[in-house]
Amino acid sequence: MKITLSILKADIGSIGGHITPSRALLEEVNKFVKENGKNLIIDFYTSHTGDDIAILCTHERGVLDEKIHKMAWDAFIAGTEVAKKQGLYGAGQDLLKDAFSGNIKGMGPAVAELEFEERPNEPFIFFAADKTDPGCYNLPFYLAFADPMYCAGLILSPKMSDGFTFRIIDVEHTEKDKVIDLNSPEDLYDIAALLRDGERYVIESVFSRSTGNQSVSISTTRLHNIAGKYTGKDDPVALVRVQGEFPATGEVLAPFHIGHYVAGFMRGSHNGPLMPCKLNSTISFFDGPPVVTGAAFCVREGKLTEPADVFDHPYWDHVRDRISEKATAIRQQGFSGPAMLPFSELEYGGIVEKLEKLDKKFKLRD
Ligand code: F6R
Ligand code: MG
Ligand code: MG
Repeated sequence: MKITLSILKADIGSIGGHITPSRALLEEVNKFVKENGKNLIIDFYTSHTGDDIAILCTHERGVLDEKIHKMAWDAFIAGTEVAKKQGLYGAGQDLLKDAFSGNIKGMGPAVAELEFEERPNEPFIFFAADKTDPGCYNLPFYLAFADPMYCAGLILSPKMSDGFTFRIIDVEHTEKDKVIDLNSPEDLYDIAALLRDGERYVIESVFSRSTGNQSVSISTTRLHNIAGKYTGKDDPVALVRVQGEFPATGEVLAPFHIGHYVAGFMRGSHNGPLMPCKLNSTISFFDGPPVVTGAAFCVREGKLTEPADVFDHPYWDHVRDRISEKATAIRQQGFSGPAMLPFSELEYGGIVEKLEKLDKKFKLRD
């Protein structure tokens, strides 16, 4: 059976700043999808990571389907009404356009979708990150799909010995999608050269070279490119089919132990370590640190199992402690050097005005 997994995700308001959506808001989105998804979707799961609400649904309508996207858009509109009534902060924040047109891409919410012929057993992971942008997946997925130091299957499994194709998108190019396909292992250095710059080049998808089947799909929107000004970080979601011809679940999770520094954190304008957290985690220290959660599922004829929380294990408690230390270490230097993002990536316009004003006061010395 050919099915589609769609994740549609938005920040439409949260309690006490940018911490977490309210229970009433989550319930409203859930209720809306339950009522309006009849005859459209097979199954669904709603959740939150930090201040973002994600709808994961299964259906047979393919990617970028107008009806699926419209249903999610309307669910976010309905949620926004609740957020406004409760006085939640940033109500409707990610809904950047007034009217729905065709699909939700480019309208503010993040989208990741995968269409595939179901394998007899079909495990996948749904990742959601908050207080960061889509480049946060560059390093972990590079390591999971291309580096035998992290993915033992590249050496041990004949199904994976042909390697993987990385589709990488240039997110600065906004008129049209600008993408490149590169193969590991032979294009490894080119892949690394692009993925080094996660603010510009972002993994969009990954395919098995032995079967051509797709494993990864990542939301690649950059909100500041849609709105032209700061409207929040992109807080990307990702779908990863695992096992068999793809890396094992544990191989995909392994690189997240690094807690690598990513763009985001307070005001979307700093670098902070990406912390793998339990499902439905909130946001705290310095509006962060950037977090990622993972819900693993199996799916059969579009029916989802309950989620298994991939970062809810004693091993990750130790990792989180270490990553907290990394967060403290970089925060100790405040605005200085790499603690704050370079000028082009600062998410608030205020600094531009400040520097223009100061520039006029500079004097040229002979
Ligand atoms: C980051 C984020 C927060 C806000 C910060 C200030 O993605 O959402 O760090 O940037 O809390 O928010 P405002 O400017 O809305 O008061
Ligand atoms: Mg927010
Ligand atoms: Mg968010």
